[in-house]
Amino acid sequence: MSNRTFLTSLSDFPSSGKAVFKVGDQPVLVVKSGESFYAIANKCPHLGLPLASGKVDGETIACPFHGSKFDLKTGQNLDWVTGFAGMRIPEWSRRLLEMGKQPASVQVYSLVIEEGKLYLETA
Ligand code: FES
Repeated sequence: MSNRTFLTSLSDFPSSGKAVFKVGDQPVLVVKSGESFYAIANKCPHLGLPLASGKVDGETIACPFHGSKFDLKTGQNLDWVTGFAGMRIPEWSRRLLEMGKQPASVQVYSLVIEEGKLYLETA
């Protein structure tokens, strides 16, 4: 049995293409890219910082802090700690910035759209 949590009406979704919702005690980032919606934890698995201001490119989002990149559909990590403050850093210095954290996926959530309303679905 799954649970649905109402997030917003599609007509109220911000034109910026991103919105953060609190579901239980978890901040969930919903991204609209093209005509598709994606939901991921608004918490980068590197240092737990928010992904909401990250750059979206198709079905990917890059963390605004150290550039780790994630697949919005699967949560898979595509690139890990590539820069600092928007500047790319050399490969050898990534280790320092990683702070011992290994590449990890970001949590993804299921969304349901029904009658113009967006719901998050959990098992
Ligand atoms: S907090 Fe996201 S890459 Fe460091």
